[in-house]
Amino acid sequence: MNNTIPVIAVDGPSGVGKGTLCQALANHFNWHLLDSGAIYRVLALSALEKNIALDDENQLANLALNLPLSFDTSDIEVKVRLNGIDVSKNIRTEQTGGAASKVASLNQVRVALLQRQRDFRQAPGLIADGRDMGTVVFADAPVKIFLNASAQSRAERRMKQLQDKQNHAKFANILQEITARDERDRNRAIAPLKPAVDALIIDTTSLSIQDVFNQSITYINEKLAL
Ligand code: DC
Repeated sequence: MNNTIPVIAVDGPSGVGKGTLCQALANHFNWHLLDSGAIYRVLALSALEKNIALDDENQLANLALNLPLSFDTSDIEVKVRLNGIDVSKNIRTEQTGGAASKVASLNQVRVALLQRQRDFRQAPGLIADGRDMGTVVFADAPVKIFLNASAQSRAERRMKQLQDKQNHAKFANILQEITARDERDRNRAIAPLKPAVDALIIDTTSLSIQDVFNQSITYINEKLAL
């Protein structure tokens, strides 16, 4: 059993700043990092490549069980590999995010990926980033944080990220995609996006990255009595 190893579960909708916070926490504590969304994204990418329908639960669960996915942490930037090929960029498109949200709504798929996620719980500790880290995957985590922000501000951040990477996108399209993905993630029957009852909820709408980090660290140190 490895459930004495501490987990900080960070959940929230897309574009809320979870990835940035989790990376900063992993660096700060020098703990492992699980980007669970990347697993659903790689699964979706693999399904699209293999022409598997995004609602074919049996085939997708089978694919999930045998997914040749690895996280390469040898560089500062973590590389996500599918079959050994670096897919870190391909999985970050809005199209793959939408497809990931669809495959993630299927019960058998989530069950198939459960143990793979729990295996990340390694000493000295884990920062887990997702939608159901605090409610399902690591329901016993000693620290749970739920980030929230208005859809408008999350779409603005996403727009800026894309512009920084010289990608062109229409604000209205981004807002629509974010809203559609959230609705699917929040309203699905299994492991919907919601704060755990014992989570600290931080609304990041008008907070800087540093503010969110500081609030989180204060809370974590208190909870873990560091
Ligand atoms: O965090 P992200 O945007 O990379 O996640 C992509 C999709 O994967 C998200 O819209 C819903 C799904 N997901 C999930 O259902 N459960 C998780 N723990 C993480 C992601």
